[in-house]
Amino acid sequence: MMPVFPDIINDHLKAIERIVNNDETAPVPKGFQVGIDLGTADIVLIVTDTNGRPLAAFLEWAEVVRDGIVLDYWGAVEIVKRLVTKAEQKLNIKIESAVTSYPPGTDSRTSKNVLIAAGLQVEAIIDEPSSVAHLLQIENGAVVDIGGGTTGISVVQDKKIVYTADEATGGRHITLTLAGNRKISYEHAEELKLNGPADEIRAVISPVFQKMSDIVQSHIKGRNVKKIYFTGGTCCFPGADRIFKEELDGMEIILPYHPLYLTPLAIASYNKG
Ligand SMILES: Nc1ncnc2c1ncn2[C@@H]1O[C@H](COP(=O)(O)OP(=O)(O)OP(=O)(O)O)[C@@H](O)[C@H]1O
Ligand SMILES: [Mg+2]
Repeated sequence: MMPVFPDIINDHLKAIERIVNNDETAPVPKGFQVGIDLGTADIVLIVTDTNGRPLAAFLEWAEVVRDGIVLDYWGAVEIVKRLVTKAEQKLNIKIESAVTSYPPGTDSRTSKNVLIAAGLQVEAIIDEPSSVAHLLQIENGAVVDIGGGTTGISVVQDKKIVYTADEATGGRHITLTLAGNRKISYEHAEELKLNGPADEIRAVISPVFQKMSDIVQSHIKGRNVKKIYFTGGTCCFPGADRIFKEELDGMEIILPYHPLYLTPLAIASYNKG
């Protein structure tokens, strides 16, 4: 049987896809939670109601983080402030605190400091793949978050996170491979990757997905992982799941409806309790 992803979470991801960067005003919520994902490719802010349903979502593409490290600190702070203002205006609320995240194995203080400099209190902080493990209430398995610059891995056994890791591979490396193969600029290759003919592009970039699968394999080896939940924007590439299935033979490979929004949703939904 094909493993399925929880319907309710897919519904939330569809809702985010509908409302992302939509600043039309919406009813004032009774209660809400805010999550901010400081990624290498983009910064995403999501507001949910107290049941985890998305109310507002704002995403800004950014090059302020590289290989998991915040490079342009003030650039990140400015983006966070802008996203907060947009969400406050949309929902007519005052956002004073948020949950945020960091790549496994890196210094979580960087993300905390960005939020504090943007005038927010940090309610909770969690590493990115582990936030997804919490949201999905995984009992046994792994989460693999393939973002722009990094791939985060979290292994769960008996509902406990037993291992996390971060590798410097992601969508950026796919774009670089495409740029090299086609002899085009990075920007052009990024555009092509997102909107070009997927079958032709897949032929060029499959080796990068295969290499990513090898990296994942090396981390989960010996950890009794049978199910892998994938997240992160890079997993949006059509057919990425098929490559993972081929390469990670014998594993159940599970992808959400829209992998780009799953990690930010998980951060917003993370309850420190
Ligand atoms: N349809 C798509 N096909 C291929 N790649 C995609 C698609 N949509 C988004 N991406 C890629 O996803 C990446 C961004 O994903 P995501 O937002 O998860 O990264 P991030 O959180 O900013 O980075 P990181 O987790 O490494 O810090 C970019 O490299 C982007 O090119
Ligand atoms: Mg990310």
